[in-house]
Amino acid sequence: MRKIDNRTLAQMGLNPDLPKHVAIIMDGNGRWASKKLLPRTYGHREGMERLTGLVRFVSDIGIESLTLYAFSTENWKRPQHEIDALFGLLIEYFDKQIAELHKNGVRITLLGDDVRFSEEVRQAIRNATTITKGNRGLKLNLALNYGSRAEILRAAKSIVEDVNRGILLPENIDEHEFESRLYTSNLPQVDLVIRTGGEQRLSNFLLYQAAYAELIFVKDYWPDFSDDRFIEVLREFQNRNRRYGGL
Ligand code: FPP
Repeated sequence: MRKIDNRTLAQMGLNPDLPKHVAIIMDGNGRWASKKLLPRTYGHREGMERLTGLVRFVSDIGIESLTLYAFSTENWKRPQHEIDALFGLLIEYFDKQIAELHKNGVRITLLGDDVRFSEEVRQAIRNATTITKGNRGLKLNLALNYGSRAEILRAAKSIVEDVNRGILLPENIDEHEFESRLYTSNLPQVDLVIRTGGEQRLSNFLLYQAAYAELIFVKDYWPDFSDDRFIEVLREFQNRNRRYGGL
């Protein structure tokens, strides 16, 4: 629920016209740890701490929707112990945070396919999404086992199936119909994509949804991406001139 009023926003150098939907590629946990001569999994733990803090801030500031790229379809190529550590952190995150998230009206959803997860992980996600289902505050969308190409193919296949079954006419296939079959169907348009860690690419994240999003790349590794840096990014967003192809 929103806790920061317009006056406080102004003190941060922000106007009330915040992006409705922010999506973040949380990159750089491994490099953050290596720089400190620590195992990569320490970086992920710090990453989880930062995620916890930023979600709190995003909820307080009153942004409607936050999508976090937490595990991509390509991340299965990582060593098993790192995959296990990441999902262990996810379970820990829900265990520790669900009460506060629920109290603050956060609604958790999964973007991605849960078939490859262990029963324990699936249960943790199901639990978090079920408890928070009716909430009206921040929409917190975790992209897990998510890949944008797979998502687009899935939508295309479901359209073909419905056409073959005679319940959808080809002439009725439009953007709205297509978007209703993406994981993001109930979310506002993505206004802002942030990637931490210094790389400048989308890495199979929200390729369709980011069509008109502003892209902002920051050098900080994810564990170092502070609330203050996030405010700077929001200021940059508000200074951009969004034309959507017009003049
Ligand atoms: C990228 O860092 C980050 C990830 C692959 C996962 C993001 C995970 C977290 C923020 C913590 C997990 C917590 C939850 C609740 C899901 P990287 O390993 O690719 O970093 P590198 O590019 O420096 O190697």
